[in-house]
Amino acid sequence: MKIAILGGTGDEGFGLGYRWAAAGHEIIIGSRKTAKGAQAAVSMRERLPEGKISGTDNLSAAQQAELVVLSVPYWAQASTLESVKAALTDKLLVTVVAPTGEKAARVHRLESGLSAAEEAQNQLSEVTRVVAAFQNIGAHHLLDLEHELDCDVLVCGDKKDDKAIVLQLCKDAGLRGVNVGALQNARAVEELTAVLIAINVIHKVKSAGIRITGLVN
Ligand SMILES: NC(=O)c1ccc[n+]([C@@H]2O[C@H](COP(=O)([O-])OP(=O)(O)OC[C@H]3O[C@@H](n4cnc5c(N)ncnc54)[C@H](OP(=O)(O)O)[C@@H]3O)[C@@H](O)[C@H]2O)c1
Repeated sequence: MKIAILGGTGDEGFGLGYRWAAAGHEIIIGSRKTAKGAQAAVSMRERLPEGKISGTDNLSAAQQAELVVLSVPYWAQASTLESVKAALTDKLLVTVVAPTGEKAARVHRLESGLSAAEEAQNQLSEVTRVVAAFQNIGAHHLLDLEHELDCDVLVCGDKKDDKAIVLQLCKDAGLRGVNVGALQNARAVEELTAVLIAINVIHKVKSAGIRITGLVN
């Protein structure tokens, strides 16, 4: 697929993009600044010369893509979506955003009482559908393709077909995706990120993750 990553210059988006490029997807790294997006693409191509990778501004990236990934800090979510909204019609938006407050290791409740993913869906209701995924996957090991990521990706969304696309993207990134229900469940998933950060800090590790047990496959 042609995948745009808004904020793909940051660790999380860059790491996921790298894994998808290695799996054969075409990656367009988006940034607020065209030159910064292009520079990030140069750096990804240095790691993966055979990869189909380019970089540009967020709007151009979204225009060129079939699927768009949102990977910016929560406080930049609404403005970033507004800036690309016109290019998102009928393109699935996958959000990896996990809101954090002043203390990243403590659950941060949004004023709306919703998840960031539901807020994104409300903002884009007339344009497209949103799926939440990768909130609990730390960036730390994403650039090491040999590293087996010992965690599951919890995937929330309101349409089974949309989640099927994202479950495949999990697989392509070397991860098991688990359909965990409606987009409404994203709040619990986003809040788990703070719990994982707390575990990392308390236990002096870098990549605590979630595993779902009891699944048949
Ligand atoms: N890092 C992790 O381990 C991790 C794990 C799970 C989930 N997440 C989630 O993934 C998302 C990205 O994480 P990250 O660590 O990659 O974040 P980041 O490095 O702080 O930000 C990613 C990109 O967002 C853009 N950005 C930053 N501030 C902005 C602003 N005020 N307005 C518009 N754009 C802005 C920047 O791109 P440009 O300057 O190029 O525009 C930046 O490179 C976050 O929502 C985070 O909660 C992260």
